[in-house]
Amino acid sequence: MNHANHEKLLKKLAAEYERHSPRSAAANREALRYLVDGGSHALRLIRPFPPRISSASGAFVTDEDGHRILDFWQGHYANVLGHNPAELTEPLAKAFASGFGLQTGFTDRLQVEVAELVCRLTGSERVRFTSSGSLATMYAVLLARGFTGRELVMKVGGGWHGGQPWGLVGVDLKEGDHASYQHAESKGLPGAVADEVVCTRYNDVAMLERVFAENGARIACFIVEPVIGSGGFLPGDPAYLAAARELTAKHGSLLIFDEVIAGFRFRAGAASALYGVSPDLATFAKVMGGGMPVAAVAGRADVMALAGRGGGVKFSGGTYSCHPASMLAARTMMRHLAAHEAEIYPYINSLGAAARKTVQEALRAEGFAARCTGDPNPAIGGSSVGAVVFPYNGSAMIASPEQVRDPETCDVELADTVLQLALLLEDVHVVHGLGSLSTAHTAVHVERLGEACRAAARRIKAAR
Ligand SMILES: Cc1ncc(COP(=O)(O)O)c(C=O)c1O
Repeated sequence: MNHANHEKLLKKLAAEYERHSPRSAAANREALRYLVDGGSHALRLIRPFPPRISSASGAFVTDEDGHRILDFWQGHYANVLGHNPAELTEPLAKAFASGFGLQTGFTDRLQVEVAELVCRLTGSERVRFTSSGSLATMYAVLLARGFTGRELVMKVGGGWHGGQPWGLVGVDLKEGDHASYQHAESKGLPGAVADEVVCTRYNDVAMLERVFAENGARIACFIVEPVIGSGGFLPGDPAYLAAARELTAKHGSLLIFDEVIAGFRFRAGAASALYGVSPDLATFAKVMGGGMPVAAVAGRADVMALAGRGGGVKFSGGTYSCHPASMLAARTMMRHLAAHEAEIYPYINSLGAAARKTVQEALRAEGFAARCTGDPNPAIGGSSVGAVVFPYNGSAMIASPEQVRDPETCDVELADTVLQLALLLEDVHVVHGLGSLSTAHTAVHVERLGEACRAAARRIKAAR
């Protein structure tokens, strides 16, 4: 049995970090009095405590202790232009100053312009906006179940579609059963949900064929990321996504591409176009919103019609759907990406390739058998995202979340917890070992990331 224990090492790093960041430590003690675990998003709640950020610009965030932290998390992969870019802050500031931005509760022309952009850039017929990726995937599943009159939702084990009932099945491997994702992730879910979600293996065409052959007539939809994010930044094989399209169509199920991360990350539009695959529905958020809370469900007009009057699917919107400031940011961002597509994507992709190579080489030079995921395949072409894994078998193929997230296969704690803390001591912030690159990053930042990885690795070795 593999499974390394890093408890002692983490204790030593935590003590160093406490000395490094006394103000953030104090702020955390206060936070714990009011906020569960000191915050409101699990991935931000670095242990023993996260840096408390007071400002951010471009590639950097500054914490209360005055550290200028080189950030590769970049707003949960949303910030393709870096933190607080002038391209977005200036029009927002101008709008607020002129009496536009917080008057939610109405329709306006801006919403139409943003909808037109989403439809045109993603090849969708209709769109409806909401305020988070979780809500978008939930509504997409509701639409698919409503449209098909079927109940089963097929997803990928290890795929994260946000905190909504059908998304809260099969995110982490089942405890005690490292082969299976088939379980509910949360207490409090309706009992039926765990049985209504069928977990499959990413990039496994044979498994898709088998599950469709057995249950095809009951499957409402297959929800899948064209490039899986939290499951390890692995691109879908073109043959796999083509098979997903063919099998869903053959069995009368809907294909939903969750592009909350992938949308506008690899091109100024949907990643599905890079595969030549047209899903029935797709969800977008993150990059599209330019750092503001905005998400969209987009796709076929006949399916989307169910969200409308008399359609029967209660996707009636929320208080903050089409929030004016979010719409303004989304329009600004999408126009900017479309206008500068030819410069932005080659640039962030080349930085992504350099960062993956640099991190991997730096960690290996210090004796850690690290692998960087996030490499593109021929369909994706280039990639500005990445994660680090430490496979116990250094030569293992990394193609599905099972390999990335299984503590029996990879040293997950070393990648997600130890390396993150050791890098924070170098004033570098990563999530799952790396994160995403933006136009605010440069080759100098990538070089610094490499140096920080080497220093972090040496620190880890010394603390062992
Ligand atoms: C692929 C994917 N879908 C859905 C979500 C949920 O989005 P949100 O956090 O905006 O609710 C996420 C969030 O990281 C995601 O990565």
